[in-house]
Amino acid sequence: MSTDAARPTTPDTAHSSSRGPGPRHPAGEHAPPTADGHHARTDARPERAALGARPGRNGRHASPSDNKHFRNVLGRFATGVVAITAVDEATGDPCGLAANSFTSVSLDPPLVAFCVAHTSTSWPRVKAAGRLCVNVLAESQRQVCDRLAARGGDKFAGLSWSLSPAGGPVFDGTLAWLDCTIESEHPAGDHVIVVARVHGLDKHEDGNPLVFFRGDYGRFHA
Ligand SMILES: Cc1cc2nc3c(=O)[nH]c(=O)nc-3n(C[C@H](O)[C@H](O)[C@H](O)COP(=O)(O)O)c2cc1C
Repeated sequence: MSTDAARPTTPDTAHSSSRGPGPRHPAGEHAPPTADGHHARTDARPERAALGARPGRNGRHASPSDNKHFRNVLGRFATGVVAITAVDEATGDPCGLAANSFTSVSLDPPLVAFCVAHTSTSWPRVKAAGRLCVNVLAESQRQVCDRLAARGGDKFAGLSWSLSPAGGPVFDGTLAWLDCTIESEHPAGDHVIVVARVHGLDKHEDGNPLVFFRGDYGRFHA
């Protein structure tokens, strides 16, 4: 697979300033595995191996305390995008947010995970619903992603969706859906890591994935 960013930009777009490519994985460089799969130690001396001790290729010190630099570097990790949806128990209205921090975690039991910023206003509504639906977004669902990433307003207005077997909103065009309940939450800096148990899942429609890379959307080439 390769990604081909539609418009190569820095990640400082409107959405990335609120979340950006996000700290999907902690910054940290590991030596690539050797042919037998083991990780070679490149430097045994701890003082030289200290993170941020030497300038990077661009001559700058690779400090994780520089938020823009952190986003720029982590944005080079290409991800898919999901829409995490639910029906608000209090109002009966659909709610949700877009996330690129989604990952599978465990087969037995079936668990997935994603990270949610403490600033999210939609997460408390999804959490209160007790169950949620993960929509794996297709390349054709940029509008769904943009709407779910918006703060406030009726994110679902004008979008076509139906209900999953467990009652979670599934957008037309979604590649796959997963009906989940929240298994556990783990505070992690300015985000919470949510582990969710999968109760049902299926492919939905065929298409290419929505790929997020360097703060923009790219294309998938098999
Ligand atoms: C491509 C993309 C990926 C995003 N990934 C996440 C994420 O993993 N976690 C998160 O909390 N917010 C993420 N966001 C931001 C949320 O979708 C949303 O903008 C934020 O939760 C504010 O909306 P809310 O107040 O309705 O929750 C992402 C936004 C975009 C555009």
